[in-house]
Amino acid sequence: MSASLIAANTLRTTEIVQVKTESPTVKTFIMPDRLCSKVKPGQFLMLWIPGVDEIPLSIMDASNGLVAVSVKQVGDATRHLHGLKAGETVGIRGPFGNSFTESRGRVLLLGGGTGTAPLLFLAKQLSAKTERLSFVEGAKTKDELLFIRELNGICNEKSLITTTEDGTYGLQCLVTEPLSSLLDREKFDMIYTCGPEVMVKKIFELTEQRKLPLEASLERLMRCGIGLCGSCVIGKYRVCRDGPVFTAAQLREVKDELGISKMGFDGSRIPI
Ligand SMILES: Cc1cc2nc3c(=O)[nH]c(=O)nc-3n(C[C@H](O)[C@H](O)[C@H](O)COP(=O)(O)OP(=O)(O)OC[C@H]3O[C@@H](n4cnc5c(N)ncnc54)[C@H](O)[C@@H]3O)c2cc1C
Ligand code: FES
Repeated sequence: MSASLIAANTLRTTEIVQVKTESPTVKTFIMPDRLCSKVKPGQFLMLWIPGVDEIPLSIMDASNGLVAVSVKQVGDATRHLHGLKAGETVGIRGPFGNSFTESRGRVLLLGGGTGTAPLLFLAKQLSAKTERLSFVEGAKTKDELLFIRELNGICNEKSLITTTEDGTYGLQCLVTEPLSSLLDREKFDMIYTCGPEVMVKKIFELTEQRKLPLEASLERLMRCGIGLCGSCVIGKYRVCRDGPVFTAAQLREVKDELGISKMGFDGSRIPI
């Protein structure tokens, strides 16, 4: 193991300095951590909630010695985390995994749910460097759309498209629906996505039909975060070590599993 991975893998305890409510089910937690404050968009950390569990989370922002994660309450660990306040202790391992590459031309980012968090981080870094930045964000309902104010500041209204399944904000459709016509209308040098795997799979199919470059961040069950336990396997890859960001060429190699099945905690295959 390299010295930098040994350092990253060492658990550090830290105090939450700020908790922000982003939606009825999502909160952002900001903590000091020297190593994770220097990450690139796409990388993740393992957050230890004392006495409960350790969970993988994408980094949503990092600067000035601080790191931020945006977390949806879905089960035991995330419920306990949502109950924590500024001043309380958590543990951090990481940063782990690779990052999105920085494209300088015309870029399109597609986020679903908390998958929007690492893409907001990426959008902030790309906005000054790219020729044009467009963002499509989708959610079930208006309350679940994340970071609209921040994204409007980066993209301006014209290049931000929002979709909700119930029509309470933006277009009433799935996030993938405006994509076909957008891809036929405009030329993009790179497309980035992060979100539910069924959405990622659909986006992969649409970009493949048009031979467009794609980078997608994937999620799998993770325990070790450093390529040892095998719980995050997809095809020949371990998502924690070889990803979480995968190129179109890599997605082609794992298309029989993408959006179809993953490994459960007991080692059996479970449908996605
Ligand atoms: C690389 C990566 C980045 C992620 N980034 C974010 C993020 O930015 N924000 C966010 O809200 N969530 C993120 N997740 C998902 C997050 O890790 C799970 O929601 C969390 O672990 C759920 O824990 P729980 O105990 O609350 O729920 P549980 O009831 O234990 O599980 C609910 C669901 O969460 C998933 N899950 C549970 N444990 C794990 C685990 N160890 N590894 C991966 N998935 C798990 C499973 O799909 C499970 O069905 C990310 C996952 C990965 C792999
Ligand atoms: S989480 Fe253990 S190998 Fe990826």
